[in-house]
Amino acid sequence: MKRVPEVGLPADTVMERLLSAKSKDLDWQSGRAMGFVYVPDPEIQALAKQAFMAFLTENALDPTSFGSLLQFENDIVAMGASHLGGDENTVGNFTSGGTESCMLSVKSARDFARDKKGITEPEMVLGVTAHAAFQKAAHYFGVKMRLVPVNPETFALDPDAVRDAVNENTVLIVGSAPAYAHGVADPIREMGQIAIEKDVLFHVDGCIGGWMLPYFRRLGAETPDFDFSVPGVSSISVDLHKYAYTPKGASLILYKSKEVRRYQIFSCPGWTGYTIVNPTIQSSKSGGPLAAAWAVLHHIGDAGYMKMAKGVLDATRKFIAGVEAIPGLRVMGKPDMCLVAVTSDEVDIFHVIDEMTVRGWYIQPQLALGEYKENFHVSMQHSNVTLVDEMLVSLAEAVESARKIPATGAGKNIAAMASTIDPSTLTDEMLGNLLAMAGIGGDTTEGLPERLQGVNEILNALPTELNGALLTSYFNQMFTPTK
Ligand SMILES: Cc1ncc(COP(=O)(O)O)c(C=O)c1O
Repeated sequence: MKRVPEVGLPADTVMERLLSAKSKDLDWQSGRAMGFVYVPDPEIQALAKQAFMAFLTENALDPTSFGSLLQFENDIVAMGASHLGGDENTVGNFTSGGTESCMLSVKSARDFARDKKGITEPEMVLGVTAHAAFQKAAHYFGVKMRLVPVNPETFALDPDAVRDAVNENTVLIVGSAPAYAHGVADPIREMGQIAIEKDVLFHVDGCIGGWMLPYFRRLGAETPDFDFSVPGVSSISVDLHKYAYTPKGASLILYKSKEVRRYQIFSCPGWTGYTIVNPTIQSSKSGGPLAAAWAVLHHIGDAGYMKMAKGVLDATRKFIAGVEAIPGLRVMGKPDMCLVAVTSDEVDIFHVIDEMTVRGWYIQPQLALGEYKENFHVSMQHSNVTLVDEMLVSLAEAVESARKIPATGAGKNIAAMASTIDPSTLTDEMLGNLLAMAGIGGDTTEGLPERLQGVNEILNALPTELNGALLTSYFNQMFTPTK
């Protein structure tokens, strides 16, 4: 097993090895990745790095020792709150990302309801399109989910179905503005009314949309109402490391008032060490992401964000029109922002994705779930906007190439075999067999083949529970210490 080198290596050797390890990673710098990354201009990237490095070692664990970090956090929370219709009562915290912000909204609601209403078997109501972070929160914090289906054509959540799902154990309603997969927002105004009527907290997940939508609105686009000005909204999550273009490790969880935020904070004077007071999940944390976010927000400024948003809005419109003009493809629903899901009733969409990979593009596969069809997802962002024409040409070619690839029927075979497997008894051998059928070799640390249609077709065909068990086993093997 690999060990720490007996004698340390020279700095340039170390850097050389680190950088050469990147060579097979997703090439985000090309602007051809339509997911995972949100890339501002090089000058802003340089400033972010400089600010990040200046606060790399400062520890946001203790705001009384590092007052600069407390000031940056309060500044950024104020900027987020004023951007999202907050007032002088709005409070919030800087977190490591969207998942942490969403999870904290659930934890605060659970503890608030236990304290104020004596709810001991907490439940939350959310659309099936709500981000997986809420399913994670339910799993971690012991909150039962009431998942409400959306319309399979429009992806709209029916407010009446939300109302019906609320009961005396409901601690939180969750709405998305918009939901990631198809870029469609939930009916936040109607859901806010239900929250008021039922006296339940209401979280709006604006992780991906919260920063951008106000700019789209100011640019005249039709955008949903979703912020603190909507009656009934009690908390909002908004990621800075997405459409505010700050480096990763940057999100905000905002509350209408301190009354609920109080339940987010964990304090522990009852151990033998230093007094712990953690407003968020992490304890020790680098000041880097916070300082970088402060720097980027101040440097881009409102006018800069408007300009970037205009580029993204125009590019998204062009992309949607272009996709609709390609025979065999269709956009799913009517996206409210710059997130677009594309599917096909004629060609295997997973082959289209592979054909795009071959042409140097990264687009994200999204598996089918019940009546919601498999598709690919594009998150249009700043560094993509000049490449839309080129991308559409590649996409038209990719569809034509995909048409020529004969179907293997692997999905159907797997689905038949899967019906005989109990997910709770999935062994390494069964995992190996399933992976082999998908064309993946035995060594899971080696990464995936370039063409992933086989893998996607199989994952797409498996029942959700078995799929989860398979992916868990795969990751359990992939993270194996280096020999
Ligand atoms: C709507 C929404 N919520 C939550 C998240 C989770 O964010 P993160 O990946 O930063 O944890 C995402 C990520 O794309 C998202 O789109």
